[in-house]
Amino acid sequence: MPKSLGKIIKEAEEKKVAIGHFNVSDTEGLWAIFNSAKGLNLPVIIGVSEGERDFIGPKQAVALVRSLREEYDYPIYINADHTYSFERIKEAVQAGFDAVIFDGAKLSLEENIRLAKKSVDYAKSVNPEILVEAELGYIGTSSKLLDEIPEGAEIEARNLVRPEQALDFVQKTGVDLLAPAVGNLHGMLKHASNPNLDILRIKKIREEAGIPLVLHGGSGISDEDFQNAVRAGISIIHVNTALRKAYREGLEKSLAEKPEELAPYRFMEGGVEGMKRVVEKHLKLFNFM
Ligand code: G3H
Ligand code: ZN
Repeated sequence: MPKSLGKIIKEAEEKKVAIGHFNVSDTEGLWAIFNSAKGLNLPVIIGVSEGERDFIGPKQAVALVRSLREEYDYPIYINADHTYSFERIKEAVQAGFDAVIFDGAKLSLEENIRLAKKSVDYAKSVNPEILVEAELGYIGTSSKLLDEIPEGAEIEARNLVRPEQALDFVQKTGVDLLAPAVGNLHGMLKHASNPNLDILRIKKIREEAGIPLVLHGGSGISDEDFQNAVRAGISIIHVNTALRKAYREGLEKSLAEKPEELAPYRFMEGGVEGMKRVVEKHLKLFNFM
């Protein structure tokens, strides 16, 4: 039996590495991520946003990941990524997700705290093993290529999460995992590098908050920032845009190379290979391999 996700996160902390969290919309993505992680013998988390899980089916997404975990006796887990309402938290908890994220980053702080706590109380009452994460500080919402920094995204030092704020949030909500705004952004800038992370802030937040930290917006972050963030106390890193881009570009290449091909399992190959390369590259970085 694979260990619980909580145990896997604890082990990552002890080893000073981070677990890769990659989003999927379909089984092509799921197999690409699973095979890449398995090839490196590393645990992995599959993420599905509200839109992604609607496309697969929330219960079906859980069943697919669980079937890989059981058949291969492998540490692969599924997270209900960025969930914006308590109703959808309930749906995800009932569907059997290993972890859920209540994302109230755009709400007032009071409302974020109230709904994050409500999510924790409800989730734990149904499944004491489930992990609940919350978001503190707005970093944009879309995993896409960006022309500019999303409006309202908190990337200036004065707007980033302060360590004492993180502690207060954790104490008031009881969340298991915290994703603070530390200079990161959802999405990837088209014509420039994404902003640098505030590494010292990550370290201080981890010390003060006392729970594992999650870094969102992994696409567009430099290799150096990734590894320094892990050294500073990040335990899980989310990547989506880079994976979507590789999927689309690989698929377009396959289609162009095989204009007569009708079998999806053949013309999808380029997309799957592209995703595998992105997953492998990131997993190696997060695990200092
Ligand atoms: O939850 C998903 C991630 O935070 C993805 O961010 O699209 O910038 O890689 P990204
Ligand atoms: Zn995210």
